[in-house]
Formats: sequence, C-alpha cells, structure tokens
Amino acid sequence: MNFSYIPTNIIAGRGCVLAHAAAFKPLGTRALIVTGQSSKMNGALADVTAALAQNSQRFAVFDRVTPNPTLSCVKEGLALLQESGADFVIGLGGGSPMDAAKAIAILAAEPRADEEIFAGNYGNSALPMAHIPTTAGTGSEVTPYAILTNDFARTKTSIFSPALYPKVAFLDGGYTDHLPPHVTKNTAMDAFSHAAESMLKNSSSPASERFARESLRILYPLLKSLENPAKETRDALLWASCLAGMAIAHTGTTFVHGMGYFLTYDHGVAHGRANGLLLGETLRIFAENGVPAVGEICAACGAELGEIINTLSVLCGKREKIPRENCEEYAARAMQTKNIKACKFAPTEADILRVFTRSLCGEEA
Ligand SMILES: [Fe+2]
Repeated sequence: MNFSYIPTNIIAGRGCVLAHAAAFKPLGTRALIVTGQSSKMNGALADVTAALAQNSQRFAVFDRVTPNPTLSCVKEGLALLQESGADFVIGLGGGSPMDAAKAIAILAAEPRADEEIFAGNYGNSALPMAHIPTTAGTGSEVTPYAILTNDFARTKTSIFSPALYPKVAFLDGGYTDHLPPHVTKNTAMDAFSHAAESMLKNSSSPASERFARESLRILYPLLKSLENPAKETRDALLWASCLAGMAIAHTGTTFVHGMGYFLTYDHGVAHGRANGLLLGETLRIFAENGVPAVGEICAACGAELGEIINTLSVLCGKREKIPRENCEEYAARAMQTKNIKACKFAPTEADILRVFTRSLCGEEA
C-alpha cells in the first residue's frame, strides 16, 4: 500500500537538532530564524545557530514575536527576511513564533495587502521551513495552518495552504524542561483539545483517528501530573502534541477553538487554557446529542466522560467569569466561524451559548 499522510519529515529525540544538522541543508543558503525570547534561555537558539554554522548556512534572527502574533509583527519579520536575503525560514518556539514564521514564509512567496491576508485561496508556494517547538501543545510543526490575530474580525483566524507544512520538524523535549507549570498545563490542554476535537469532525478518518487516539492515550494520564514533570514525561507530552497536530492537520478543529479565540482576543486568556475551559462542556453537549465519537474519546483516555470533564476542571482551577451578555455576543459570532462547520453534531446558537454559560458564567449543566 502506498500511503502519504503529511509531507513533513519528523526528527525526534533529545539533541536531534545538532545530531541531524544536515537536515537544514536542502532548505536554502540563508535562514530567517523566527523566534521569541525564551529560545535564548532553553538552548534551542544556540543549537539551531550551531547547526546552521556546521552547514555554512548564514542566518538572521527575528526575535520580536509576541504572543498571538499580529499582522504588524508578521510584516516586521517579512521586512527583515527581505532585507537579509533569506531563502528559508525556521520557526522556533511555541505556537506564536511558529505561526508567525509560517505567515512570513507564505507572504514572502505570495504578497498580499493586509485586508486580503485572511481571505483564503492561497496557492501552493511558500519559502521552505523547518519548525522546532519549544512547548508541547500547538502541533503547528506538522500542520498546514498559521493562526494570527485578526484585528478586522476581533478574533484569531487561521490561514491555510498545503505550502504551510514545514519540510522538517525537530522534536527535542529538552527545550521544554524548564517551562513553568502554568505553561505546561495550558499547552497540554491545547494538545488534548486538538486530539479530542479532531475526533469530533466529519472529516476524521481511520488515519487521523489513529493519531488522535494515540495522542489521547498518552496525554490523558499525564494531565494529572503536570506540576513538575520528569524528562520522560516532557518527551511524551511533546510527542503527543505532535500526534494531535497530525490529527488536526487533516480535520481542522471544532467550535472549541472558534469560541476560545474570542476569550484570547478580548480577555487575554491563554490559547490552550481557553480550549481547556470550553472542552468539557463541549464534550458533554456532543454526548447529549448522541455522537458516538465521545465514547471513542473516553475509550482512548480510559476514563468516563465525567472524569475527563473533572480532570480538565482541576487543571483549569479558578475559572474566569465572563458576563452573560459577552457570551451571547460570542455565541452569535461563533456561528459565523469556519470551525463550527462539519462537526459531527451541528450546534444551534443556543447550544453554543449553553457551552459558554456553563463554562464561564457558573451556570449548571
Ligand atoms: Fe490550538
């Protein structure tokens, strides 16, 4: 059987960036490294620059990526790319640097005016990319999406193109060793949500479900011990995040993500936490509507639905309280988002509002 799932070459293991430095070689002669500040502390930037030096590849560093990157951040990186003459891009960090790197790589090949950036219909050209996650949650290293702050729509919006698949992804759990507990928890909830949401889409397939189930199987027991994880746990979290990324690479996410983006944009709730806050009640509403995938998610986790909802609640701790009128506005806007389409249960606006109010207004299930 011939089988192609994603075009990204995944290289995993501690020390893999230096051990497989040659994997950067075919990407180009000069890199733009797109990153934030933490890659200077966790050793990742030093490893990448040493690997490039081994290959006699030159580089420039754009280290000004902020959380939930905006178009102005992307354009600043793009200007540096053009000034430096870079012909490939390295995304290094959590989801934000990787998303910014992807946007820079595609806009370099396919320039657009600001108001056209979220209009879709991208072609299949972008500068080649290597991605190196330093958190275990986004899975962006293996997806064809870049998610950016969209000030026109007051939310976050994804750009899609097959050209956004990185050529290479390096997974080194060592870069995540010193993440603080709140980042470890938020990003783990993002990965868990990706795997679960992928199972809830009509576009899930036997192949995507293999990745999603394996991710849930690994992740669920680990969600209870994220305070100070051992190295092996860190490695497992990063692998599970990558598996969940491969699942959503084919299916996309559900309205959990569509709804969570409002919480991030308006209330500054971290992306993974926003998903964690909303996922439990979303699973409950799918179960109430008889969607068998909820049972499959529970089976992969080895837990009852109530237990999963409780585990997510414990991880979230004290919940943000969002005024009911905000939730009503978000529910109406969520109905217009692309994540709401093609789920195994088609929610009404009242269903979406119920998820919001049960999750964030203290209303009873
Ligand atoms: Fe996510």
